[in-house]
Amino acid sequence: MTEENTRPASLKGFSTRAVHAGESRQKPYGSLTTPIIQTSTYTFENSQAVIAHMQRKMAELPLLRGEYGRYTNPTRETVERKLAELDGCEEAMLVASGMAAITTVFLTLLSAGDHLIITEDCYRKTREFALTFLRRLGIGISFVPVEDLEALESAVTPRTRLIFTELPTNPYLRVVDLPRLVEIAHRHGCLLVVDSTFATPFNIRPADYGADLVIHSGTKYLGGHNDLLAGSVAGPADIIHKLKDAQNMLGPTIDPHAAYLLLRGIKTLSLRVQRHNENGQRVAEFLESHPAVRRVFYPGLPSHPDHAIAKKLMAGFGGVVSFEIEGDMERTMRFIDALKIPYVGPSLGGVESIIEQPALMSHFALDKQERERMGIKDELVRYALGIEDADDLIADLKQALDSIL
Ligand SMILES: Cc1ncc(COP(=O)(O)O)c(C=O)c1O
Repeated sequence: MTEENTRPASLKGFSTRAVHAGESRQKPYGSLTTPIIQTSTYTFENSQAVIAHMQRKMAELPLLRGEYGRYTNPTRETVERKLAELDGCEEAMLVASGMAAITTVFLTLLSAGDHLIITEDCYRKTREFALTFLRRLGIGISFVPVEDLEALESAVTPRTRLIFTELPTNPYLRVVDLPRLVEIAHRHGCLLVVDSTFATPFNIRPADYGADLVIHSGTKYLGGHNDLLAGSVAGPADIIHKLKDAQNMLGPTIDPHAAYLLLRGIKTLSLRVQRHNENGQRVAEFLESHPAVRRVFYPGLPSHPDHAIAKKLMAGFGGVVSFEIEGDMERTMRFIDALKIPYVGPSLGGVESIIEQPALMSHFALDKQERERMGIKDELVRYALGIEDADDLIADLKQALDSIL
């Protein structure tokens, strides 16, 4: 559905765009904020109004009104326009979760006999979806190390349609050489899909480098307050229209209230991400200096294998720091339990700090050997820093690390 969108004359800066892009200047009732249109359906004045709407739809003209909540919602569409602008893409689709975005992309753009390449490491459910659902549908999958683009190119077959990568990856924060990956994907006629959840459009806009589709779990930094689930895909209009047609059938529709919370969250994205970036850098440097920590993974550290490319491509390195405790599972648990500020749990990107030991959380169902094959050691910790003061976060870490020395 289209809505008149009179933007302020200049929307150059990221913060200005985050606040104003996609929003109608004049909103219903003179409201400053975009209203939550909490409806499942839309009604028509009379039969003639139904016919006029259906005729526009059949002629594929922009629709002037809603018909049903799974297809359209004005609150959701405002977020879609804002995200398209922030991701630097023609259009965007907003759905109920990051996984809904990822699964809709795969199910829509891949068919039986096609081949998909996914770079390691990646979010565990993305991997599981590929290995279960997509395999069952007759889609071939190859996993390749994110740092080995020669291996990636060797894995390309005439049936490869799509290459999927995270930027940075979860949990080791690997940063792929995006311009090289774009060149390889396009030379072989493949679409490149980037899950940029950990970076946000503040730190990098993969479409600027030629990525075809950009995915975010809006649950994380975009929402930013650990209080909603959402997912988005941004890209060229023709692909987004295909994805929206699929969304209309598959039904991973976001609730208008969650869409509003996301809209509200995005307005402060640049302030929050700047703080996450600062906290990430300071905490990573502190952790690297502490004797109870064996190794720190953060792209802002010169010791990170992708530091050079990350510095070239990214405005900042985000709020997630992964590290290994010098010791074993039990010692790592003692460290986590001694912390006072972060909550223990999954997820990231919100104002509250959250910490987890992947062996006990995302990878608990696997035995130790299998976990280690996936690079997940018992003593690995993923710390998703919030926007608290770095001095407090560091003092808290120091007392917890000192307690296990
Ligand atoms: C990189 C990445 N992509 C996608 C997802 C899935 O997002 P959601 O939980 O919103 O479905 C996650 C969740 O942790 C993630 O870390």
